[in-house]
Amino acid sequence: MSDILRRGRLSSTPDEDILDFTSSMLADKWIFEADILVDLAHTVMLREQGIIREQDCSRILQGLLSVREGGIEKLDHSYEDIHISLESRLIDMVGEDIGGRMHSGRSRNDEVATCIRIRLRDELLSLMEELTELRTVLIDRASENVETLMPGFTHLQHAQPTTLAHHLLAHTDALSRDSGRVMDAFARVNESPLGAAAFASTGFDLDRERTCSLLGFDAIMENSMDAVSSRDFLIEVAAALANIMINLSKMAEEIVVWSSTEFGFIELDDMYASTSSIMPQKKNPDTAELMRGKSGVAAGSLMALLTICKGLPLSYNRDLQEATPNIWRSVETARSAVRIMKGMIETMKVNVDVMSLQAGTGFTTATELADTMVRAADIPFRTAHQIVGVLARGSGTPSLEEIDAVASEVIGEKLSDRGLTSVMVAEALDPVLNIKKRSIMGGPSPDEMIKAIGKRRIRLGDEVEKISELNRHVERSLEELFALVNENINYQK
Ligand code: ARG
Repeated sequence: MSDILRRGRLSSTPDEDILDFTSSMLADKWIFEADILVDLAHTVMLREQGIIREQDCSRILQGLLSVREGGIEKLDHSYEDIHISLESRLIDMVGEDIGGRMHSGRSRNDEVATCIRIRLRDELLSLMEELTELRTVLIDRASENVETLMPGFTHLQHAQPTTLAHHLLAHTDALSRDSGRVMDAFARVNESPLGAAAFASTGFDLDRERTCSLLGFDAIMENSMDAVSSRDFLIEVAAALANIMINLSKMAEEIVVWSSTEFGFIELDDMYASTSSIMPQKKNPDTAELMRGKSGVAAGSLMALLTICKGLPLSYNRDLQEATPNIWRSVETARSAVRIMKGMIETMKVNVDVMSLQAGTGFTTATELADTMVRAADIPFRTAHQIVGVLARGSGTPSLEEIDAVASEVIGEKLSDRGLTSVMVAEALDPVLNIKKRSIMGGPSPDEMIKAIGKRRIRLGDEVEKISELNRHVERSLEELFALVNENINYQK
């Protein structure tokens, strides 16, 4: 079979080594389905615009459906990309006089950009769903643990008491911003470059709005040069995905640390653990470690995309082919990481007793004690900070007498003479009361947490609704496309 792409201009063919270097066939498996959709929509539009005949349209569409059925394996992998191998298979099936008309008014440049956008938008829709599921699990576990005390950390040192709910909601909120970033990026991904052709559009009277709507896009990328050469949408998505992976790797790090014997806060389900080939007692949190590691893949893909796109002149350059696999790598990594994190959080066992015991260990109530001195004895916070700091050198649970002794040295007065009582001191040193007092917006008090959880559930519900609206829009468009394909196949002369 002669090469439909090279036979005109070129006389020698690339050897295997050159082909391996230049071909995108491997990564193009991601856009096989999308390419068929693009071909179908373009063909239907060509017929509607009177650019191809009804009978040719019908045969091309039938051919495309059989190519689709055969799958990517049936394509000739010695072509340099999916677009040309797919067209060549179509021509094998229906003949060049018919199949050779499909590519009228089109280039692989607008074609590939359209395919990437279609596949990527589907991936983003699934990712957004998966993110809402992960956030739901985090919120569910938070509501089970509104009263579960734990030490909050700064510098990984015991800092102040908090609750597991407060900690889990912190991660939930970070992931909620991640969802927002993916949703924002979606709007710029779901734009149609089709009709831009090589870069200068075409003299054929194409209806760009028609293919835009049949393919479920929300808008057209108007300038035809911009349409074929922009990959900023990939960079934007890769940045959002890298952010997700960084957030997940922070959670993964805590899972690793919290499962250690030293912490003993949680135990992962065995599903997510591995053991040692030599040390039979080992239960290692490998899945969480891999998540931490895979965040490097997402960060690397972003860096690769940035570097590949930097300094490219307008319009299409083949360098762009090298950009695309990076987005598939990071999409695959981020989506699986989100799903796996959901499972780990859902099934992990929380050692409430260990956490609660640790909540008060290491004088975590010191800040509240200083605050109490400020409120009860009307001394400046900086002075209270010094008094408690001196007390912290001791056992960490000072009595009123000890406080008075230090205060006498520091300010020449006993705080009991200024209104501080031993009941106040005892309350300040109680981790449960510490938390209860932190009831302003965003604090860990159980009442505030219950409110916060409620707000987040409502927000999640709205988001789920928005995502299914976006899904429905794509589905309806493709249903219309397939209805038209069938109509055109069964046309009556
Ligand atoms: N495989 C190519 C890519 O991914 C498709 C576009 C080829 N265009 C060209 N002018 N060679 O970018």
